[in-house]
Amino acid sequence: MTITTAGTGVTDIEFHYDLGNEFYALWLDETLAYTAAMWTGIPGDEPDGTALLRAQRAKLDHHLDLVGAERGGGARLLDVGCGWGAMLSHAVQEDRAASATGLTISRAQHAYLDALALPGVEARLESWEDHRPERPYDAVVAMGSFEHFATAGMSRAERLGVYARYFERCHGWLRPGGRMSLQTIAYDGAADGGGPVGSFVGSDIFPGARLPRLSEIAAAVDPYFSVVVLHASAEDYACTLKAWSARLLRARAEAERLVGPEGYRRYRLYLRACEVTFLRGAATLYRIGLRRRDEPLRLPV
Ligand SMILES: C[S@@+](CC[C@H](N)C(=O)[O-])C[C@H]1O[C@@H](n2cnc3c(N)ncnc32)[C@H](O)[C@@H]1O
Repeated sequence: MTITTAGTGVTDIEFHYDLGNEFYALWLDETLAYTAAMWTGIPGDEPDGTALLRAQRAKLDHHLDLVGAERGGGARLLDVGCGWGAMLSHAVQEDRAASATGLTISRAQHAYLDALALPGVEARLESWEDHRPERPYDAVVAMGSFEHFATAGMSRAERLGVYARYFERCHGWLRPGGRMSLQTIAYDGAADGGGPVGSFVGSDIFPGARLPRLSEIAAAVDPYFSVVVLHASAEDYACTLKAWSARLLRARAEAERLVGPEGYRRYRLYLRACEVTFLRGAATLYRIGLRRRDEPLRLPV
C-alpha cells in the first residue's frame, strides 16, 4: 500500500516510529502515549512509578474535555496521528466516545492496533490527506502529529499552505458545532530549527520534520475555527521527557539488546537534549481548543 504525504515521508516516519514496539514499551507508560503528559498537581518524582501514567491520563481527559466528549454522549471521535492508540482506547473504555477512528502512517503502530482489535476502535494506515470519512465526526483530536505535516525544506508560504489545507480538511470532517483539540510542539524563543540540538534531532531522530510557530498555526486555523482555549506549557514536555529518560536509563540492558548500544545512546541524548530545549524556552508545547466555524471566513491574505 502506498502512502503519500506532503509532510514527513513514510520512510522517515518508519525510521523513527518503527524502531520496534518493544523498544518504545520499555520507556513509555503502559498506554504507549508518545506526547507530553499533563503534570498539574502530579509530582514527577513520585516513588510508586504511576505518576507518568496518571499524567498521561490527565492529558487524554483534558483533550476530551476540550472537544466536549462527555461520558455516555456517544461521540464519534477522530484521532489524527493516533500512535499506539492511547487516546483511542482511553476514549472508548471510559465511554467518552462511542467510536474512535485513528490515523497513523506508521506500519508498526497500525499492526499493533490491528492486533489489539479493540471494540469501537478503528485504526487506519492513512495520511490525513487521504482521509474521506463516510459520516462527519463530532470531535477531532491531534496530539504530536502536526509537527510532521511540514518538512524542513518548505518555505513559510508552503508551510502555511499545508497547515491551511489541514484545518480546511478538519473543518470538512466535523459536523456543525464540532470541536477540535490540537497539541503540538512549536518554536518559541528560537527563530527556527537552527543550533546543534535542532540539527541532531532533525537528522538523527525525526528526519524531515519541521516544527511550526504559533503565528503560522493561528494564520492557518483562523478561517476555519475559533480558538476557545490556548494553553502553553514547556514544563509539561520537560517533565515528560525527564520521566521517559529515567525509564530508559533503568531499562538500559534490554534497550541495548533491542536497538544496540548506539541506538540506546542516541535516544538517551535525544530525550535529554529535548528536555533542555524546553527548559531553555527555545520550544514550547501548545494545547489549543478549537470550535468549528459554521462557514469558513474569507480573510485577506
Ligand atoms: C508523536 S506520535 C503521537 C502519537 C499519539 N498521538 C500520542 O499522543 O501518543 C505522531 C503520530 O503522527 C502520525 N503522523 C505523522 N504524519 C501523519 C500524517 N500525514 N497523517 C496521519 N498521521 C501522521 C505518526 O504516524 C504518529 O502516529
